[in-house]
Amino acid sequence: MAEQDAPSPAHDRPVALVILAAGAGTRMNSDLAKPLHELGGMPLVGHALRAGLELSPERVIVVTGHGAEAVEAAVAELAPEAVCIRQEAQLGTGHAVLQAMPALADFDGDAVVLYADTPFVTAETLARMRRARAARDIVVLGFETAEPGRYGRLVMEGSTLRRIVEAKDADAATLAIRTCNSGLMAADAAHLSDLLARLSPENAAGEFYLTDVVEIAVADGCTAGVVLCPEAETLGINSRAELARAEAQLQAILRNRAMEDGVTLVWPETVMLAADTVIGRDAVVEPHVVFGPGVTVESGARIRAFSHLEGAHVSAGAIVGPYARLRPDAEIGEGARIGNFVEVKAATIGEGAKVNHLTYVGDAEVGAGANLGAGTVTCNYDGVMKHRTVIGAGAFIGSDTMLVAPVTVGADAMTASGSVITENVPDGALAVGRARQINKPGLARRLMDRLRALKAARKKD
Ligand code: UD1
Ligand code: MG
Repeated sequence: MAEQDAPSPAHDRPVALVILAAGAGTRMNSDLAKPLHELGGMPLVGHALRAGLELSPERVIVVTGHGAEAVEAAVAELAPEAVCIRQEAQLGTGHAVLQAMPALADFDGDAVVLYADTPFVTAETLARMRRARAARDIVVLGFETAEPGRYGRLVMEGSTLRRIVEAKDADAATLAIRTCNSGLMAADAAHLSDLLARLSPENAAGEFYLTDVVEIAVADGCTAGVVLCPEAETLGINSRAELARAEAQLQAILRNRAMEDGVTLVWPETVMLAADTVIGRDAVVEPHVVFGPGVTVESGARIRAFSHLEGAHVSAGAIVGPYARLRPDAEIGEGARIGNFVEVKAATIGEGAKVNHLTYVGDAEVGAGANLGAGTVTCNYDGVMKHRTVIGAGAFIGSDTMLVAPVTVGADAMTASGSVITENVPDGALAVGRARQINKPGLARRLMDRLRALKAARKKD
């Protein structure tokens, strides 16, 4: 199909993503499907989705197979608009894309094929592939490498791609080519569908190769071209070692991006970020901090050493740690303090509130300016259900207070140290929930004297 036949410029046409995620991932040696292994706290398939979604696709199709149910559940969370299609037997990349085609039968636009195990492709590179479609019927993403190894080789004639030859099927001259196939491809969906129907598995692997569509199209008089990107972008993940290398590569990218955004990372190499971590300008992250998914830290906040955060929001000017743990739905207000060995889960800590030492705050609301003493525990779980604790603004919770939820401590109220609070405390009241102290004059000395005498008598025997 020549470009001038297209109803609108090829690079402006609607996009359908086809993400291949059915492969066995044998070399991962894992019960977990490869697309679900995580990088920067996000499943691999999430990375492919994220890059692809920047093309504003009208349709998103994920081809699943190995571990399909789990992959489909993850996809439903990551991109609810995506449709998953099963490839029951993994007969090759061409066969995988073919499974998606019935879902695109009525689609007038381009199919962009991505792999779930190639997480570093950037939206910018995908956009370049789209632009290259203005001049070519098929566009393949390629890269130059010193070690072409098992990759498919791109056989070029000038700037035109003639065919792709898999390493297994290549002769020595073809194996010497260093321009390789990343696996990503863009073509008109109907055209691709027609080409895929003509694939045959007569090759070294006995598979339906997606790559063969190039040679078929060229024989039809169509044109194919290549967009090149840095090798690092096409890095595929096939083993745990490659996953670890990819994590290092991703962390380097994320740390640099954070620093470019004006975040101080005191010792960057020791900080683990998640792919979706958002940190504001002039925030400071001290060494050995781990960010799980879903964390936002506002400008000027400070995350002190050895803290662990996931699913949390830290407002401007707050100080968290050292050794703090923020769990999902921890909402730390402006200028609040979360100190060492403090765990916060599903709780709002009001502006300027202080929770400085050895405390658990879960399923709770802590008002502005409240102070929770060392060893405070919101006893939120009765063994079956979770209950809420509400602490009013300006309240002072004495050290070692057990707040047995559901319970409310009013604004400006106090609890005495060591109290077990089981009833609501009115605004401004002082609650004492502990045994009354009795002093017995001289008893300590008399007791000790008796014990020492007993010990001495035993030694003589
Ligand atoms: C493929 C390309 C090769 C390219 C390389 C880049 C073909 C024939 N070869 O080879 O040119 O250099 O990627 O990494 O396309 N998949 C399915 N169903 C299948 C088979 C694969 O969904 O039946 C999925 C896999 O889950 C994976 C992707 O397709 O996400 C690539 O499959 P893989 O087997 O890794 O292809 P390669 O042999 O690496
Ligand atoms: Mg591969």
